[in-house]
Amino acid sequence: MDTQDTKTIMDPSTQLEQMNIVIVGHVDHGKSTLIGRLLADTNSLPEGKLEQVRRNCELNSKPFEYAFLLDALKDEQAQGITIDMARCFFKSDLRQYIIIDAPGHIEFLKNMITGASRAEAAILVIDAYEGVQENSKRHGYLLAMLGIKQILVAVNKMDRVDYSQEVFDTISKQYREFLSEINIEPLDIVPISGREGDNIQARSNAMPWYTGKTILEHMDTMEKEPEKSDKALRFPVQDVYKFTQANDDRRIIAGNVETGKITVGDEVVFYPSGKRSKVKTIEGFNVPSQNEVGVGVATGVTLETQIFVKSGDLMVNASDPAPMSGTQFRARLFWLGKQALKMNKKYKLKFGTAQVMVSIAKIDHVLDAVSLGKKTKTQILRHEVAEIIFQSTKPLAFDTAGDFECTGRFVLIDDYEIAGGGIIMGKEDDNNSLIDQMVAARDTQWVSSQIAATERTTRYRHPATMILISSEQGIDRVGIAKDFERQAFDAGYAVYSLGIPN
Ligand code: GTP
Ligand code: MG
Repeated sequence: MDTQDTKTIMDPSTQLEQMNIVIVGHVDHGKSTLIGRLLADTNSLPEGKLEQVRRNCELNSKPFEYAFLLDALKDEQAQGITIDMARCFFKSDLRQYIIIDAPGHIEFLKNMITGASRAEAAILVIDAYEGVQENSKRHGYLLAMLGIKQILVAVNKMDRVDYSQEVFDTISKQYREFLSEINIEPLDIVPISGREGDNIQARSNAMPWYTGKTILEHMDTMEKEPEKSDKALRFPVQDVYKFTQANDDRRIIAGNVETGKITVGDEVVFYPSGKRSKVKTIEGFNVPSQNEVGVGVATGVTLETQIFVKSGDLMVNASDPAPMSGTQFRARLFWLGKQALKMNKKYKLKFGTAQVMVSIAKIDHVLDAVSLGKKTKTQILRHEVAEIIFQSTKPLAFDTAGDFECTGRFVLIDDYEIAGGGIIMGKEDDNNSLIDQMVAARDTQWVSSQIAATERTTRYRHPATMILISSEQGIDRVGIAKDFERQAFDAGYAVYSLGIPN
């Protein structure tokens, strides 16, 4: 429905601000019903949809559900539970909302996380009759971990508990206590009935004891995140392209401006290497060169000096705070893989544009997202959250998730599937091994020659290449190298054999 219904529901002529809100909570606590209600009460449904769904229910003699409205928009009515993540759109007088309906079932925790990671705020639904359940807490915990600070709690199905203030107060108190343990102060807790439409768009007559805001009033006062353009530059390098013309050894460094901006003439630093240069041009794709590009723009830059940059590097402005770099970092991770996450196995870690093999150097503790208890363990099971230390095979540049989402959040791949994700909490001291120091020195202290590689190729009539001969113990590598050098020399190549001591 994403594309089609966007057209019918969203009015392109309005220039209203957009806001992403995810609806989470335990299975069957009424998330989809709440959304259906919001769509209906704000007149956001396509003409005749409500009547059509009601009529369909009558024909099939089943009770009408507001959640069916979403299914009807989505054509996914099969089991009446939200399997995938559905998005729908509506607008209040103030804004356009993109509502992400996350599934409540534990099997679909990954979808919930994907949905939540795109949201700026969340509404967490708790069934008044069932009270706080496992996923009410787990979802709350994951929202906090994903850095979603604006959380509105809705105690739903108040009609099922006779609109009792006592029931509401008990649940509110219990859930507030849980949230305060994870340092979250909810925006508010609102008693509602999705089915009856109490305190969603219109104030409820059934709960005169509640004098606070309705759900929609709260939504309109949720705050947009501060503009990402005001932040420091983070430009993860996606690709490096060569100019195709002969003798043009310039490179275009391509990527997406995640935060901040790039201006021609900026002094920039690439991490983890620490190499520096200046932005010479900003090359658009199919657009003329520009002087400046901002957040969200996919672009390419050329540099004033030729330095070796590769995909996965992070370009930042030299005057901004530097990212961290190293091979060990502390992270908070949630694991969704069917197989447990183990200590001495390699996993692929992806964040920004970087992909690198990592293993777990240490499991600090495993945390129960429901009871918030800490345990010492040697592996991490499905649905567990843990604080760990990662060891990567090569140096990486990263930030803490609190500072920069783009370079502070990651996913872990096991068997070609996303099996976990998390946030970076900081660098761990990896005692900078000798090799790391030498690699870093090569990156920053390399002195380049005035003679271009192409000139040497012309002189020697063959391009340059390096052949590394390595083997297990007991094989005569030196002998092989010497024979090879002899034969290549006799065949007319300019060739030198260098033994390790050289
Ligand atoms: P999942 O997507 O499967 O996690 O469920 P959900 O949270 O989206 O729940 P859904 O909206 O599908 O509602 C589950 C059941 O609760 C349905 O039978 C609804 O009719 C019922 N329900 C939802 N809101 C209310 C309410 O305010 N009052 C009453 N009495 N029932 C409600
Ligand atoms: Mg649902």
